[in-house]
Amino acid sequence: MTVKIISNSESETLELGRELGKKILPGITVLLYGDLGTGKTVFVRGVGEAMQAHGVRSPSFTLINEYETKTGNFLIHSDLYRLDENGVRSLGIEEYERSGDSILFVEWAERWPNPPAENVIKIFFKALNENQREIKILFTGEKAKKIITDNEYFSDRLLP
Ligand SMILES: Nc1ncnc2c1ncn2[C@@H]1O[C@H](COP(=O)(O)OP(=O)(O)O)[C@@H](O)[C@H]1O
Ligand SMILES: [Mg+2]
Repeated sequence: MTVKIISNSESETLELGRELGKKILPGITVLLYGDLGTGKTVFVRGVGEAMQAHGVRSPSFTLINEYETKTGNFLIHSDLYRLDENGVRSLGIEEYERSGDSILFVEWAERWPNPPAENVIKIFFKALNENQREIKILFTGEKAKKIITDNEYFSDRLLP
């Protein structure tokens, strides 16, 4: 199932992140793809706002940031841009993915050699111009698909 959204501003991308943050469930992994500056970190900041994990900052230097959410779960936010395959392995993001109380967001997910295939949301960001982004969201697995069926914001934007 794929949803397509055109964002016209940073605040629209933040709002999209908030919509996902309202419905996301522990055990789901979100893989983020797209060039530098296309809005991946902005999107995760919106997710964090909805989960009461405020002040999400880019993990491009820290590699992994961890936030406790209002429900006692953890928002794990990683950026693999600076890592090669061995670097990703030693980072140990799989551990977060396996622990049931975490929701994992991974920027530059193409650097992850073996990302999970089930209960995954893949998001592709593309800059159309300075302020417009095309954002495509693919939902895989029952847990992830439930987010669409439970939420008009996403079901209204489903691609045929
Ligand atoms: N529609 C939009 N959505 C998200 N960011 C936008 C948008 N239009 C302009 N921008 C700008 O693009 C940049 C996105 O930065 P960031 O989220 O850090 O990118 P990434 O994490 O993909 O490298 C910000 O400077 C933001 O203000
Ligand atoms: Mg980023």
